[in-house]
Amino acid sequence: MKEMWDERYAVDEYFYGVQPNRLLQSVVGILPSQANVLCIGEGEGRNAVFLSRLGYKVTAIDFSIEAKKKAEELARKNKVSLDYQVYPIEDFYFGEKKWDAIISIFCHLSISIRGQAHKHIESALKTNGLFISQSYSPEQMKFKTGGPKDPSMLYSESLIQSDFTKFHWIRLEKVRSEILEGKGHTGLSSVINAIGLKKEY
Ligand SMILES: C[S@@+](CC[C@H](N)C(=O)[O-])C[C@H]1O[C@@H](n2cnc3c(N)ncnc32)[C@H](O)[C@@H]1O
Repeated sequence: MKEMWDERYAVDEYFYGVQPNRLLQSVVGILPSQANVLCIGEGEGRNAVFLSRLGYKVTAIDFSIEAKKKAEELARKNKVSLDYQVYPIEDFYFGEKKWDAIISIFCHLSISIRGQAHKHIESALKTNGLFISQSYSPEQMKFKTGGPKDPSMLYSESLIQSDFTKFHWIRLEKVRSEILEGKGHTGLSSVINAIGLKKEY
């Protein structure tokens, strides 16, 4: 898997473009100022750089070293700095009640690691911390405009609800949306938008 991503990213062109994800752009105003933000599966840096330019303290993780090189180049061009750590998500220490927000944009994890990673995300968020995620739903198999080919890696509202038990969902919806992000995401898509506030129950 990691090799596939390194190969994909080892070219000059940004596979998902350099503009931030539109869902993230539309909700970024709800982040508290000075927020300590973690971006998982960050890839070539478009979302982390966007957040960094807005003054947030951003840490990014991804297991692709090629992704990190491109993210750092994008950060340099935008005159911001990133703490970008090359780690498999399954080995990363997320910490406890550490982050004001965790961002997961099209970070589709395999079932063998997903449940545990989601538990770590939940406990790593501060109370009232935000989880912001966009992912492809199983319906995306029809559209062929991006996303994993393996249906077991697609997400649903019920999967998110059962993996994350401590959240108040501001938005949890399956929608069809035009996703145009570089070569990688190329048109009408079926996505799950999840924006949740961590509560202590
Ligand atoms: C579809 S890309 C999305 C990249 C970025 N979030 C964006 O929207 O531009 C998914 C990313 O997740 C990373 N990834 C997938 N599984 C991972 C894992 N187990 N640990 C760390 N990174 C992973 C890949 O390297 C890839 O960069």
